Amino acid sequence: MYNSKDTIELIQQSKTFLLNSNDNNYVQTNIELLRKILQFHEYKYYIENNAIINDNEYDFLYTLLEKTEKQFPELITKDSPTQRVGNSLNESFSTVQHLVPMLSLENSYNAEDLNDFDRKAREASGLNEIEYCVEPKFDGASISLIYENDFLVRATTRGNGVEGDDITNNIKQIRSIPLSAPFSRYGITQIEIRGEVIMTKEAFVKYNERLVQQGLATVANPRNTAAGSLRIKNPKEVAERNLDAFLYHVSYCLANQTFLTTYNTHDAQLKLLWDCGFRSTEKIKFIAKNINEVIEYVKSFEQKRDDLPYEIDGMVIKVNNLSLQEKLGMTSHHPRWAIAYKFKARQATTILKNIDFQVGRTGAVTPVAKLEPVFIGGVTVSSISVHNEDYIKEKDLKIGDTVLIERAGDVIPQIVQSIVEQRKGTEQEIIFPKYCPVCNNELFKEEGEAVWRCVNIECEAQVVEKIIHFVSKDAMDIKSFGEANVRKFYELKLLKDIPEIYKLNFSVISTIEGFGKKSIDNLQAAIEASKHQPLYRLIFGLGIRFVGETTAKTLANSVDHLLEFKNKTEEDLQQLEDVGTKIATSIRHFFSTESNIKMLEELELLGVQLKNTKKEIVSSGELLGQTFLFTGTLSKLKRSEAEALAEEHGGIIVSGVSAKLNYLVVGEDAGSKLEKAKKINTIKIISEEEFLQLVG
Ligand code: IVH
Repeated sequence: MYNSKDTIELIQQSKTFLLNSNDNNYVQTNIELLRKILQFHEYKYYIENNAIINDNEYDFLYTLLEKTEKQFPELITKDSPTQRVGNSLNESFSTVQHLVPMLSLENSYNAEDLNDFDRKAREASGLNEIEYCVEPKFDGASISLIYENDFLVRATTRGNGVEGDDITNNIKQIRSIPLSAPFSRYGITQIEIRGEVIMTKEAFVKYNERLVQQGLATVANPRNTAAGSLRIKNPKEVAERNLDAFLYHVSYCLANQTFLTTYNTHDAQLKLLWDCGFRSTEKIKFIAKNINEVIEYVKSFEQKRDDLPYEIDGMVIKVNNLSLQEKLGMTSHHPRWAIAYKFKARQATTILKNIDFQVGRTGAVTPVAKLEPVFIGGVTVSSISVHNEDYIKEKDLKIGDTVLIERAGDVIPQIVQSIVEQRKGTEQEIIFPKYCPVCNNELFKEEGEAVWRCVNIECEAQVVEKIIHFVSKDAMDIKSFGEANVRKFYELKLLKDIPEIYKLNFSVISTIEGFGKKSIDNLQAAIEASKHQPLYRLIFGLGIRFVGETTAKTLANSVDHLLEFKNKTEEDLQQLEDVGTKIATSIRHFFSTESNIKMLEELELLGVQLKNTKKEIVSSGELLGQTFLFTGTLSKLKRSEAEALAEEHGGIIVSGVSAKLNYLVVGEDAGSKLEKAKKINTIKIISEEEFLQLVG
């Protein structure tokens, strides 16, 4: 998509743009370039997994584009990166007919099946050997995309194969699917592409973590989650789930003759898609000269399936030559030129020894099955979440049962069923507790919910989980604190609530085994640094129900000081983007609870930043677009921390001294940069102290 010359040019243009970003005139006249720059960075990040700018810089440029387009709506284009964000809900999904029916694939399970498939293809074609393209078989939801005159015009689900649902709004939320692509360069006016929407293992784990944080029931596997995500009403929720897509087939193409004769193999089309900015299977395909090579390859690939960042349930073998594909044709169910090779489901049986009931941060009680350890799909499994009471009933689980475990398409193994035939009569009913297993308070279940909850906010389990969440990476990010230390300090009565993080008695901690001077210094520094975390991290860290990272950002941006929420009504809160009744009620409840306000006041007294420093400075324009360079050894901050702090306040980090530099921050033993800067009198030369004052 971008050759090395384009890449170098775009990197340079990104820098120039950042430097000129506070010049409104420049931004307005170069808005098309700004879009090109953002599209380039999206490609680097989402397709090539090789980002070249950091998130702050990307967000800064994106916000700039959004702001400029708001001011000059006539400058908006259909494929602008801002146009992914759907503002309206999907009220319903209209049914549309596919240009070409979306067929399924025939399945094969062993070498014999594959040899059979190959024999039929050779007989029908009269060839001795057939070349195949072999690709992973993604375990997700199939989609079809139509591009007309380079623009994405429609995306649909598979549906019944003949017609599917129009899910264009939701598909636009998937950043690895381009909104426009340069097909016209190849003489293509209309193209229909097939692919699979998937959720990576990482995105799946994150999504489940978010559900836990919100006190909701977790989901069982990435496939169902990806498929379900395509038909949800709110496109923004689709965006939050970080879905991905692989494209693997051109099903229809309106193009000139030159194109059709040049791109006459399946793998040439995969390359075309890749060159047009799609994540096609181009980089993970294998060309096999004959069926023997196919068999060898699929067998070796099966061993590696657990190393992939996403789930696959087999391989797809396709005749590579397109005219041969046409000659072989199709049945009403599947093409005769392709076949799926299904991997064996990873199953095992074991004994369900017991059920543990674990209390989470929001008080939700999750039943966890304790199993006789069993090896399955590369890991030893000894406990599996069984989600909730209804699930236990549905699967008819009893303690002592022999259960069937499966890891087919699941990152987390699942219990498929209990094997009733193997019951001896000694198995015991699983009785869901009526009282909290930790604090003994009565449990409650809201109407329509599957989850039983302990509502005692002093419940020990909840307190510990809340502290663990507060220090975690996505919240206050107190490095080297971690779950184990929270539990240890809590047990030793050194830590009983969030404010005590900032009052830890380090002389006692130094007597605990494993806490040397270095680890204490690191911990102390990390706790200290967390006091200056951006406000949204603190809000997220408070673990208010239904307030995830995105809502935390919206909330942080709406105030100058956190305690302003004390006076906000539910109506005020609902004015904010994405805050509906449920979230507003929860926020209101948090800020009208006296003990929470006391905790926040105490945190402020202990030095934790409750002010929205970013908003203050950015809105007053003090540091917005100002360039910074750090030189010499800083005494209080690490270089990377200082740079991040400058960026958080709207500043831009540059690499050299020039007339474009606004601030040179000088530490000890500064050398030639300082000398050079002294010669340019527009550069402000400041100390680390002065810099810290500047950022508040
Ligand atoms: S080709 C006409 N390639 O598997 C041929 N399908 O079980 C179109 N799938 O319906 C399909 N990975 O949803 C193809 N690399 C891949 C695939 C793939 C997953 C799905 C697809 C298909 C299903 C059949």
